[in-house]
Amino acid sequence: MDDRIRAADANMIGAAAETLRGGGMVVFPTETVYGLGADARSDRAVAKIFETKGRPQFNPLIAHVADLAAAQKYGVLDPRAVTLAERFWPGPLTLVVKRRAGGGLSDLACAGLDTIALRAPAHPVAQALLRAFGGPLAAPSANLSGKLSPTTAADADAAMRGGAPFILDGGPCDVGLESTIIAADGDELRLLRPGGLPLEALRENVGAIASAGPIVAGERPQAPGALESHYAPDARLRLNAAAPEQGESWLGFGPDQILTETAPRRSLSPRGDLVEAAANLFASLRALDAAGADRIAVAPIPEKGLGRAINDRLRRAAAPRPSYDV
Ligand code: TXA
Ligand code: MG
Repeated sequence: MDDRIRAADANMIGAAAETLRGGGMVVFPTETVYGLGADARSDRAVAKIFETKGRPQFNPLIAHVADLAAAQKYGVLDPRAVTLAERFWPGPLTLVVKRRAGGGLSDLACAGLDTIALRAPAHPVAQALLRAFGGPLAAPSANLSGKLSPTTAADADAAMRGGAPFILDGGPCDVGLESTIIAADGDELRLLRPGGLPLEALRENVGAIASAGPIVAGERPQAPGALESHYAPDARLRLNAAAPEQGESWLGFGPDQILTETAPRRSLSPRGDLVEAAANLFASLRALDAAGADRIAVAPIPEKGLGRAINDRLRRAAAPRPSYDV
């Protein structure tokens, strides 16, 4: 126990909401596991989550909302998804649905995908925090990448190794297992991750759910970071470039004086800040695409901290496109 851990009374929930409004992070209890939350509408706030978790990839995050009405602001829930949400929310069920255009969610939270994972948690502290904050919270489990998900505030504190300054203590988690994730973005419902809500209960309500598909590899949860369905720019990328060649656009990092005469140009972070660069990554690629770039030369990004995840994404975007992607 230390002073990062605060008993989740009304005052502390208010203070936590204030921290979130200021673009900060809060560890909070849900009925499944503790989450590391930040404003799901802010690329900058979400970049801090990835930095803190130390993930070498930008996996998409679950956007936590208070209820179905809030979920519908950010995602398009078809009748099956609505049936499941009405029956099981708030609770340990995450639904992956199409993103709503103009919904305002951070591109980084969705890792550039056109789908969004949504969940209304049942824990009263999570509910109170969501309502006090008044917006969606992107929140992965509050552990470092590759470690166990924490189910108490003290575990979360230890798991984050001091990386999370504000921890709301809501007692031990009832479920103790991550949420069940169902994809409802295509023709058939698919189980993406078994979790706290048994499949049998789901099937009773909506019938068939494909329990093993191409995206469930054995017992491992789907790792969308490994899928190639992430946003890739139309333009071709040339990485680790010192400068743009004739006809190339430029995606810079750090202070540089490169001025392309006619081709579009952006900087991930003029001051060389990796958190800022991560926050700007998807928006910059989209902007260069929109500006009509055919080829983009990308400055070297340091292979440390968030730079590893940025480089992972850039390498995927630069790799030859598989034919099914055409
Ligand atoms: O119980 C839970 O779900 C906890 C609590 C905090 O809510 N959260 C959690 O988040 O387990 P995380 O980030 O550790 O796991 C979320 C999973 C990841 O495997 C991610 O790949 C998947 O959800 N996911 C998120 N968005 C997705 C999307 N658009 N498509 C497919 N999978 C997605
Ligand atoms: Mg996790």
